Order: sequence, then structure tokens, then C-alpha cells
Amino acid sequence: MRKFLMCVLVAAAGSASAQQAADAIAPEAASRGAFQGMSPAVGAAFAAKDAGKPVEAQNWMVAAANPLAVQAGADVLAAGGTAADALVAVQVMLGLVEPQSSGLGGGAFLVWYDAESGEITTIDGRETAPLAVTPTLFQDAAGEPLKFFDAVVGGRSVGTPGTPALLAEIHKRWGRADWASLLAPAIARAEAGFAVSPRLAQLVAGDAERLAQSDITAAYFMPDGAPVEAGEILVNQPYAETLKMLGEEGVGAFYAGDLAKSIVATVQGAKGNPGVLSEVDLAIYRVKERAAVCAPYRAHEVCGMGPPSSGALAIGQMLGMLEGYDLSAGPQDITVRRLMGDAARLAFADRGRYVADSDYVPVPVAGMIDPAYLTERGALLSGDDALPEVAPGTPAFDHALLWADDAAIELPSTSHISIVDGAGNVASMTTTIENGFGSRLMVGGFLLNNELTDFSFRSHQEGVPVANRVEPGKRPRSSMAPTIVLKDGAPVLAAGSPGGSRIIGYTTQAIIAVIDWGMDVQQAVGVPHAVNRFGTYDLEEGTDAATLAEGLGEIGYETGVRALTSGLHLIAIGDTLQGGADPRREGIALGD
Ligand code: GLY
Repeated sequence: MRKFLMCVLVAAAGSASAQQAADAIAPEAASRGAFQGMSPAVGAAFAAKDAGKPVEAQNWMVAAANPLAVQAGADVLAAGGTAADALVAVQVMLGLVEPQSSGLGGGAFLVWYDAESGEITTIDGRETAPLAVTPTLFQDAAGEPLKFFDAVVGGRSVGTPGTPALLAEIHKRWGRADWASLLAPAIARAEAGFAVSPRLAQLVAGDAERLAQSDITAAYFMPDGAPVEAGEILVNQPYAETLKMLGEEGVGAFYAGDLAKSIVATVQGAKGNPGVLSEVDLAIYRVKERAAVCAPYRAHEVCGMGPPSSGALAIGQMLGMLEGYDLSAGPQDITVRRLMGDAARLAFADRGRYVADSDYVPVPVAGMIDPAYLTERGALLSGDDALPEVAPGTPAFDHALLWADDAAIELPSTSHISIVDGAGNVASMTTTIENGFGSRLMVGGFLLNNELTDFSFRSHQEGVPVANRVEPGKRPRSSMAPTIVLKDGAPVLAAGSPGGSRIIGYTTQAIIAVIDWGMDVQQAVGVPHAVNRFGTYDLEEGTDAATLAEGLGEIGYETGVRALTSGLHLIAIGDTLQGGADPRREGIALGD
């Protein structure tokens, strides 16, 4: 077994509140039983996480949501592979062991820092709407929006998957290892079986009724009619066969041929809620390189994915509005939370009005992150109380814009992977099948996404069209926010999280925790969450954040206390590498 050089930082003890958060929200702690025996490095990584300390390394680092996936990436990096190679290995393993969150049937966004050129590239592997959809896809006969799960479960919500094409693209651009070799560990694990994690078991049990709506999905997750249990060994031979085929033939075999026919038949044949995905949709799918969205913040450049994601724009807007304010009092300070909460509300107002797939609607990207515009919007935060009303602003634009506000429903799911390789390349990728277990349809051993429900269910409001309405070939607006932060042109932080539209708040807080609160990455991922998306100020139950309710209520916020299950995976890049894995989930960071 490879030896990992990994030491746990002992300085900089985690803040009391960060540790409290970890204690309060660590049902995942039980998962360690399943993973602890994997290797001494994995055991040490869990020990670091428990202690609220980052994992430190000199050469490379990988942080993701499941130790088996992290180990697959670590093995690639240790053998001299690039971050792109490792990303392929991590993603295909996640598709097996964390199938509810991401996989071949979904989509992803990658932000890449190339060490040789010093350039940031962003690749859009988002799902697309089938050519046969209409803007009323998620409306009933009376034009009213469907109930969320009526839209999600079945074929109607399935967009053309982008993840396989994205993996092939990044391997072609930046990979060095043999393609098939990157799929081999996941093939072996699928054939030998993997121990179901407590999180997966808990989610299967909670979703049994919906999973049961598809025979194939039910047979896999509830083999004897009952939900799989934690520790049970799950074999996925169809997934192994799919990966073998992709290893031998390349991802063209995903988008045409028998597998493509099976995907289409599964979507179009879904009981009660068929979809319109066709072989043509699969055949014409392409990933897109997009212009990165980079916004300045306190001598840093915060770079991420532009439209169809709203992630980098909303984060850039929040940080731009907060630039003029002192946040050093930290996460338990009511004024700091007021500033962050109202900056988020203002950013979400613009997001709901203006952001969609920029290939279909003109998005005022430059105007939205123009420092002058954000200074003007930030001036609205200068009072003492919550803003009584929040409305979209009027960023500078170069096309006429008249949109109604969006009505998309977004529930948390998804997974985030951060990787730094030995050459200094950085990969930050957020990957999803949308809702937990996606459309609940399974083919070839993987789940198909329900990404189309990230479109607005309403196509118009009072006769005015919604920018993020369903259209043929369009990509639904996302909140995914894979991020790379630069200082003086060099990367200093890779970050991102799952969590639906709360991704924006989770990731922004992590960046502020590092830059403004001086926290290391493990402290940053453990900070209790307080997230405002345009309505109730959500406070993380069982943590110090819940104690903010009274103070925030006094200045005018409606608050709610609830579980806020981020899945932040951060890598700080400096003289050494430091990795942080969210205490709310099962992931770890490994490095050498
Ligand atoms: N489906 C999660 C997102 O794209 O934001």
C-alpha cells in the first residue's frame, strides 16, 4: 500500500463554535466504521476532521464526499496523474458509492487553473433540455406549475447528461494517464461490491416510496423489498459493464449505441410520467467552454462558473457588496450576519430576474459584477435593520431586458470535488444529478438526473417571460459554484459545496471565513451556517447559529432553525496544501 505523508496541524485549534457544529451534526461520524479500515491515511484524515484540523500535504491534495472516491483520486495523483486524471477517477467512484448525488447520468461544472499558463478555464457539462420540450413542460393542463415531486420522478425531468462528455473533455485537455485505467478502480469496486454508507442508507430509507416507482431502481436500492442498510455490500454489475464499455470505446458509447437507446427507452417509457429525451438529444450533446466569472474581493480574485450557473455571479455580487464593510467580528455577530444576509437577498433578487442560459437569453454578466454597481447596491446595507424590501437592481446591460422573476424550486443534493496536483494544477468541480436520486430512473447502473426541474416551472408572470423558462436545447440555471480564489494571479483556495441554491451561501461563507475571519480550511467548513436566499433567514440547528434567531428577529428577519447539510470541500494552497472536509458529510481530504 502506498504511504501517505500526511500530518495533522496541531496549531490553530478549531473555534469552539466550529467544533460544536461538528459535534451536533455528525451522524456521519457513524460512517467511519465503514471507512476506517481502508488505510492509515484514511483513519488519520477522519481523526483530523474529528479534531477540527486541516489535513496538510506538500505535493497534492484531493477532497471529496466519500473516502473510496478520495482514495481513487489519491492513487492517481500519487502515481503522477494530473488533477484532471484524478477527477475522472473520483467522479466515476462517486457515481458508484454516492449515487444519490452525482454520476454519469448527471451534469457538472469545472473550474480549472492551469499551472503552466496561469489561466483559469471553465467547462460547462450541464444537462440540456431535449429538443422536443416546450415551456409548459412543468405545468398542468390549466397552466399551473406541477407539484415538485410530480415533476421530478419519472422521465419528464431528465435532461441530456453532460458528465461523461465533461470527463472525456478534461481528460483530453489535461489528462496524462490512460483513460481506461482511471475507470478501473470503480469497475473493480462495482464488481466486488462496496459497503453502503450510513448516509446512503438513511437517504434510501427516506426515499423508499419514490425509489419504488421504478422497478430497476427499487431492485438495486431495496433488493429484498427493504431499503439497503449501512454496511451492506452492494454489487453494481451493470455499472461495471457501462464503465468497461466507456473504457474500451470512449464516451461516444454513452451518447450513441445500445446505452443511448436504453437511456431513451427508460425516459420515454417511464411509468406515469414519461419524458421526451431522444437519441438525437444524446448524439448532439457537447460540453461548452465558457468565460470564467471573476470578481475582486479584498485583494483576491474569486473565479467561478458563469451562466447557466448563477453561482459565481451571486458570490461575486455578495462579496462586492460586502467589500466596503468590516466583517472581522465573525459569524456570531448580528451586524455581520445582517450584512451577509441582506447582501445575499440582493444578489438573489438579481439572480431570480436575470440569470439563465446565456446562449438563450442575454445575461448582464459584466453589469452584475461591475464594482460601481455593487458599491451602489452595497450602500443599501448601511442601515441597522434588515432591509424591509428587496428588489432586483438595474445592472448595466447591452441588450434590452424585460424579464419576470423566476419560480424554480431547488432542493439540496449534489457533490463537490477539489483537487490540486503535483504540478500545481487546480480543479474545482461541482457535480450533480439534481435532487437526491435524481429522476429515480436507473439505466446502466447509474441514476438519471432530474436537472430540468432547475428551470422555472412558470414560463411567464403576468405576460412577461421568465429568463429561466424551459426551452429546447437550453441548460437550466444552476446554483453550483465551483470556485478558485486567486491572489496576485496564483491560486490560494479551491472551494465548493452541494446544497441547491444554498450552495451560494455555503461557499460565500467559506470564502469569508478564510479571508476575513482568518480561519484554516477545516475551521471554515465547520462554521455554523446562517443562509438567506430571499426569504427566511435559515439558521443551522444544533449549532451556535441557532442562537442568532433572537437578535436577527429583533432587526426584522423572519428566521427558521433547520438542518443545513453543506458538503464543503476546500483546499488552501500556499507553502503547503491544506485540505478541509465538511463535518456534516462523509468526505475526507487526503494529501501527500
Ligand atoms: N441542481 C443543483 C444546481 O445545479 O444548482
